Amino acid sequence: MLKQDIVNKILGLKYDVVNNQVSAFAPVNIALCKYWGKRDDILNLPVTDSLSVSLANLGTTTELSVNNETDQVYLDNKRIVENSDFFNGVINYIDLFRRDPKLHFTVKTWNDIPTKAGLASSASGFCALASALNTLFSWDLDDHKLSIIARLGSGSASRSIANGFVYWHAGKEQDGMDSYGEPLSYVWPELMIGIITVSSDSKAISSREAMACTTKTSTLYQQWPKRVSVDIENLLKSLKRRNIALFGETAESNALGMHATMLDSKPSILYWLPETVEYMKKIWKIRHKGIHLYFTIDAGPNIKLIYEKTDEKLVREHFPGIESEEVFG
Ligand code: DP6
Repeated sequence: MLKQDIVNKILGLKYDVVNNQVSAFAPVNIALCKYWGKRDDILNLPVTDSLSVSLANLGTTTELSVNNETDQVYLDNKRIVENSDFFNGVINYIDLFRRDPKLHFTVKTWNDIPTKAGLASSASGFCALASALNTLFSWDLDDHKLSIIARLGSGSASRSIANGFVYWHAGKEQDGMDSYGEPLSYVWPELMIGIITVSSDSKAISSREAMACTTKTSTLYQQWPKRVSVDIENLLKSLKRRNIALFGETAESNALGMHATMLDSKPSILYWLPETVEYMKKIWKIRHKGIHLYFTIDAGPNIKLIYEKTDEKLVREHFPGIESEEVFG
């Protein structure tokens, strides 16, 4: 099945531009239980469920307008050259929704995540773009459909549709209409995420390629779906009780499990740098002293700390200069 089939299924074949210029914001989301592996790599359908938390104040803002000349893409006020990867990523996605070939778009996008934080992710980017299209064409999509449309850009974008905790159902249907992010109602005002930037260089291997290699070649990966169900159960339990130990331990161990499947791939994939390991050891040392400090790592060398507000001062002493965010701030 093609992305276009899903778009037609959700939106129908014909619609017109209703607004000339719109703007939309979508938050960055940090996976606590990771999405790793696809059951359909065209529609970005995952092998397992996943669970994330969005950072209310960090994300992508996208301004979308129509013009009669040519497609234009700007990132952080700089015009992006045509046919670069970024330009093609945005325009190929927009093409899914271009009913009139004479219609051209100007896309201006800003990441208020400091780019150096290495967090400027495709998740908030595609979700903000999906949301801007939704307003431009007045589709009036509900969260469920918006999440599916965002997923067609990047899998993890399906979870950037809301603030707070979001549960992405893997679904079973071939067309993925049952694979979408569902906002959860848990609130945890004390929860903090800290961002340690080890490197902001772009990754040598994309998550898409790394996932494909892992699912095909890692024997450890066969255990992944089973462990995800246990981790999700524990995360949900920890959310109910705001149990930082269970929450942090589960998220950290899930991330390490994902990286273990990458190491087990042929060839091995390792995103960490020596500093990543140094920071991990430092976090474990601090935890040994009884402090509830945990981490998670995505497909890159950077670390996201997980802790509660009561430990903010201590965390800042140990990690001066980090970007820290109140999840529900
Ligand atoms: C490690 O959503 O970037 O961050 O669907 O191919 O665009 P595509 O992959 P992407 O993968 C994110 C992987 C991850 C884990 C996660 O966010 O759950």
